[in-house]
Amino acid sequence: MAVAQQAPINFAVMYATHDAFRRDLQRLAAAVADGRAGTPHVRDGWENFTFQLHLHHTVEDSDLWPRVARAVAGRPADQKLLREMEAEHAQLGPVLAAVDDGMTRGAADLPARVAELAQVLGDHMTHEENEALPLIQDVLTPKDWDAFRGAMARKQGPKGAAVYFPWITDGQNATERKAFLDTMPAPVKILNRLFWESSYRKRGMWGS
Ligand SMILES: [Fe+2]
Repeated sequence: MAVAQQAPINFAVMYATHDAFRRDLQRLAAAVADGRAGTPHVRDGWENFTFQLHLHHTVEDSDLWPRVARAVAGRPADQKLLREMEAEHAQLGPVLAAVDDGMTRGAADLPARVAELAQVLGDHMTHEENEALPLIQDVLTPKDWDAFRGAMARKQGPKGAAVYFPWITDGQNATERKAFLDTMPAPVKILNRLFWESSYRKRGMWGS
């Protein structure tokens, strides 16, 4: 029997957030290679990176995966994928701590620690994009996805949004910027363009 296809979910915000993590990992690796890991602007970039990552995973764990879990009761392969997502989030803790420690102490093996983080986080995000997003498309509705996004916005609050939006649009090309901002309410786009981006730029994260 043919199964009704769910209405398409727009995952632009998830891809844009993952790409911002990938971009920051490249900036971190470049800063470490240049011997700039101990500078205040690199420290600031790193602190924002870990804050955004913690927030992203916290809200996925509280408001996304449980929704998917309820929808896949009785589907063991899909339940296994959700356990893998959870395990991969947990695996990041010690890898992040190793980089943080390496930056604080100026450890000689900091480049290797950063490379490990890039590998572990990169693999996790690719796994999520290739397997978890199709599952979400299969079992959740656009309304469920909006509920997850609403939880994220509440957790960020207005102060968090003022950093999150320009952090995402930093370095995006026109197509990526449009794909991301088109999913947002008009006032957010205006605030980002008029105020948030300039404050963010002045902060000079990563010394860029
Ligand atoms: Fe994600």
